[in-house]
Amino acid sequence: MAEPAQDSGSWTPDSYSDAIRELPAQVRDRPLALVGFMGIGKTTVGGELSHRLGWPLLDTDSEVETRSNMTIREIFDWFGEPRFRELEHEVIAAEAAQRRRILSLGGGAFMQDANRELLLARCTVVYLAAPWSHMARSVQRLKNTRPMLRGRSPAELEELFTLRHPFYDQAHVRVSVPGRWPAEVASRALALVGLS
Ligand code: S3P
Repeated sequence: MAEPAQDSGSWTPDSYSDAIRELPAQVRDRPLALVGFMGIGKTTVGGELSHRLGWPLLDTDSEVETRSNMTIREIFDWFGEPRFRELEHEVIAAEAAQRRRILSLGGGAFMQDANRELLLARCTVVYLAAPWSHMARSVQRLKNTRPMLRGRSPAELEELFTLRHPFYDQAHVRVSVPGRWPAEVASRALALVGLS
């Protein structure tokens, strides 16, 4: 395991600070994939990274919608979550095999073993992290648009978040979001992976 960057703090499973777990080889050529909970800002930060690196931004949710000609909500309502996960996996398998692009992943994608293994093997994976205290309000705002949030109580939402953190935390690099503008998050991500 690589040593943490000097000012990044150590990697601990219950922390949301900047940290490097392990950098893969050929970071300059691999896709850079952003993981993290709904509402953390993956697509916004992805846009910044795309602009800075000149790599195209690919949002897996948008790609699933384009390929299926349905909204995420329609896919969940008509066919259920398992079908959505299949479509999401197809997009990830295709995109992780490419070079030099930014992948903004749906918040549940990294929970699936096959996706996680593929992404860690082929991409540089960055976890955009924040504690629940930071996420709770933005998640409330997404309740009408994200099928995974519908009908869940605040305690159940926190439970989902807590369940997912250890999966996200298998990313190569973790970047702390609270108190930073998206451009700053992007700068930190680039510095930690060695692309700045
Ligand atoms: C999901 C997150 C969503 C979308 C789908 C399921 C999840 O993406 O993929 O609604 O399981 O966390 P965002 O993280 O972009 O909201």
